[in-house]
Amino acid sequence: AHLWRGVIEEYRARLPIGDGDPVVTLGEGGTPLVPAPALSARVGAEVHVKVEGANPTGSFKDRGMTMAMSKVAATDTELVVCASTGNTSASAAAYAVAAGLRCAVVLPAGKIAAGKLAQAIVHGATLVAVDGNFDDCLRIVREMAESHPVALVNSVNPFRLQGQKTAAFEVVDALGDAPDIHVLPVGNAGNISAYWMGYNEYAGRTTAASVDDAATRLAPVATKVPQMWGVQAEGAAPFVKGAPVEHPETVATAIRIGNPASWAYAEAARDDSGGWIDAVSDAQILDAQSVLAAEVGVFVEPASAASVAGLLQAAEHGKVPAGARVVCTVTGNGLKDTATALGSTEVEPQVIAPTLESAVAALGL
Ligand code: F0G
Repeated sequence: AHLWRGVIEEYRARLPIGDGDPVVTLGEGGTPLVPAPALSARVGAEVHVKVEGANPTGSFKDRGMTMAMSKVAATDTELVVCASTGNTSASAAAYAVAAGLRCAVVLPAGKIAAGKLAQAIVHGATLVAVDGNFDDCLRIVREMAESHPVALVNSVNPFRLQGQKTAAFEVVDALGDAPDIHVLPVGNAGNISAYWMGYNEYAGRTTAASVDDAATRLAPVATKVPQMWGVQAEGAAPFVKGAPVEHPETVATAIRIGNPASWAYAEAARDDSGGWIDAVSDAQILDAQSVLAAEVGVFVEPASAASVAGLLQAAEHGKVPAGARVVCTVTGNGLKDTATALGSTEVEPQVIAPTLESAVAALGL
C-alpha cells in the first residue's frame, strides 16, 4: 500500500525545494475528492467536492504551510508571523510546532471562529487581537516583516501558493484530466491563484505565479485546464465591485476580506480561464452548508460552502453546461465553527433510562 507522505514528497519534482532542504510536514494533502450526486442532480452536471477539511489542521492552508515553514526552517529565523481570519493562524501554529519555531498570529478581534482560535492556543502561538479587520492585520504583519527579524507565512509568501497548487494536481490525478469547471471561495485570493497555477503546470504551461521550470521540463499530465469560477460573500466582494471594500462583512468570517493580496493573480485566473467571480448572500452560503451536510454528508465551514452556493446560483441562472465535470473545493472543516452551523437550532436530545426499551420507545420503533 502506498503511504501518503505529504505534498512536498508526493510532488517534489514540481515544487521549488532542494534535495537537502528540510521538510516540515504533518502529512497534509491526499484529501478526498467526493462525488456529490445530490449536487449533480440539482445542477445537471457531474459534481465532485474536494474535501480540504480533511487536512491535518482542518483546512487547505496546510498545503501552503508545509512549503512556507520548510523554507523558514532552512534559515535562522526563529519566529513566524501571520495575519489571519482563523485558518492560516491554526495551520501556522501547528506547523511551527513541527518545525520547532515560535509563532505569533495577528487576528481581527471578535471575528475568529472558536475552533480556529482554540487551535492557535493549544499549539502555543502568541495571539494578538486587532481592533480592525483582516486587511488591517495583513498590513501590520507585512510592515513588521520588513522591519523585524520575523518570517511572514501569509500567502504573500510565494511558497504558500507553491504548496497550495498541489490540490489541482490531486484533482487531475483522481479524475484522469482536469475538470471542465473548478469552483472555489475567494477571500485573500491566494487559493484560486494557486489552483490556476497547478492546473496550468500540469498541462505544461506556466502562469505569472510560477517560480520554476518544472511545468515545461516535465511531461504534461493534463490535456486541458478548467474554467475558474470564484465565489465571494456579497458583503465582502471586492472582485465583483471591481475595487477594495472598506468594511467587509459576512457570516463566513474566513472570507471577510476587503482588499485581497493576490488580486492580480486571481483576475488573471478568472480572465485567462474564461471564468468569472460572482457573489452570493449569507443566506445562500448557510443554505449550501446545509445541503452539503444533509444531502452530501460533508460538514464544512461557511466560507467553504460559498463555492457550492455559487454553483447552485450559476445553475439557477442557466450558466452550468449540461453534463459538465465540475469540482468544488470545500476549504475548511465544519467542526471549526459549530456555533454558526447550529445557529438557533435547539440541541437538547431527549434523556432516557439506560435500557433498550427506553431507546426503542424514544425512537418510536
Ligand atoms: N475558505 C476558508 C475556509 C479560508 O480560511 C479562506 C481563507 C478562504 C476560503 C479563502 O481563501 O484567501 O486563498 O482566497 N482564509 C485566510 C485565513 C484568509 O487567514 O485563514 P483565499
